[in-house]
Amino acid sequence: MENRAITPSLSQDQTQAPSDEMQEALRIWGGRPLSGNVRISGAKNSALALMAGALLCPEPCRLRNVPSLVDINRMGQVLQSLGVKLQQQEDALDIDASTLTTSKAPYELVSQLRASFFVIGSLVARLGSARVPLPGGCAIGARPVDLHVRGLQALGAEVRIEHGIVYADVKGRGGKLKGAKIYLDYPSVGATETLMMAATLAEGETIIENAAQEPEVEDLANFCRAMGAKIRGAGTNTVIIVGVPRLHTTDYSIIPDRIETGTFLVAGAITRSEISLSPVIPEHLTPAIAKLREMGCQVIFEAPNRLRIVPGELRATDIETLPYPGFPTDMQAQFMALLSVSTGNSVVTETVFENRMGHVPELVRMGADIRIKGENAIIRGVPLLSGAPVSGTDLRASAALVVAGLAADGETLMKGLRHLDRGYDNFESKLRKLGAKLERVTL
Ligand code: EPZ
Repeated sequence: MENRAITPSLSQDQTQAPSDEMQEALRIWGGRPLSGNVRISGAKNSALALMAGALLCPEPCRLRNVPSLVDINRMGQVLQSLGVKLQQQEDALDIDASTLTTSKAPYELVSQLRASFFVIGSLVARLGSARVPLPGGCAIGARPVDLHVRGLQALGAEVRIEHGIVYADVKGRGGKLKGAKIYLDYPSVGATETLMMAATLAEGETIIENAAQEPEVEDLANFCRAMGAKIRGAGTNTVIIVGVPRLHTTDYSIIPDRIETGTFLVAGAITRSEISLSPVIPEHLTPAIAKLREMGCQVIFEAPNRLRIVPGELRATDIETLPYPGFPTDMQAQFMALLSVSTGNSVVTETVFENRMGHVPELVRMGADIRIKGENAIIRGVPLLSGAPVSGTDLRASAALVVAGLAADGETLMKGLRHLDRGYDNFESKLRKLGAKLERVTL
């Protein structure tokens, strides 16, 4: 297996989505049924958190089932800027964080990848200090980090924000954080992950209450436990961490991506196609499967880690996004595309992010009948969408427009590919293998 090192001089195209400058677009020919099996990649939001977690370990670790994404390359660059050595062999990533050379993460990288802010927890735990730029907002919202900051302060770090940089330092106690009881005002995924990582090497016990319960949080905890951390309750709303002096090497495989799985389930339902998907962890998909069944589809567990969707006449339903185990905000846009061609009226309520309806005007351009009222979108199902030129505003909006294009009458030309390249591993080739007709074009 060839060794492909992610070198600090990572070529622009590996962290710059291929489509950034060339204004590339995806031309999609609608109306073709899909068939076959799609292979689901490792979870993006798990891989990014686990890469931050690897900073806690003074010995080399191996992550397997790492998806091939621009965001992963960007996170790799952030780690390399901290002194980490990386070696990639297909979907295995060797991370050697034995000698960190700085606690300063570079602005130009952190500002491009919100998840890289999560390194602050590992850096403070490992080095007793961290300088991490504020990640800044994006298309879906302001994305504040106040819960991360307040939690680090509770653990004994002095934190101040100056010129857009978060400075965190532990004075005394040999630079060691001290376990504490932390209540999160909101079950933030990132804050739970940051604070779980920080507490792993702190002195004493930390309890995180109202913690996020997402599977990616649990995956991070399992990875840290494999390195010798003492964490229990991850995946519930109360996580208890007992600090340990040092972690050790491990070889760990990342869970499959439940959001990619949900996206392909919608692709099957919206094109009235039977497709199967593997590997999957069905219990990570409970809300999506429940909604697809409510809408008239069958979702069959073909094997312990394999699902099959059998489409039916699509009926309207209502969706409210909530923290896990509620309906995931990361599947809201894709399901809205499906609801726009389901018989009847649906209401979609986005409660997690303040601005995650960027896909609505684009779906309307394709003939959907959707009106926004505050945090609600009112959808009246139409028999068929029509292909049109559209633009993806964020990762999941772009995915929603692709699946809408697969079912639309005629051709859809979707711009905003850079979002897609960040979060979906070989999305086009996986769709093509299922029988979709689409091609990347330069405008
Ligand atoms: C993670 O983002 C995911 N990203 C997001 O996936 C996902 O949508 C989100 O969790 C919710 O599930 C990664 O894991 C890399 P949050 P995160 O902190 O951690 C507010 C995708 O498409 N908040 O749970 O940033 C925040 O503004 C991406 O793959 C605070 O107010 O999400 C938001 O309204 C998009 N203060 C809500 O909490 C804070 O300190 C949920 O955010 C932190 C968050």
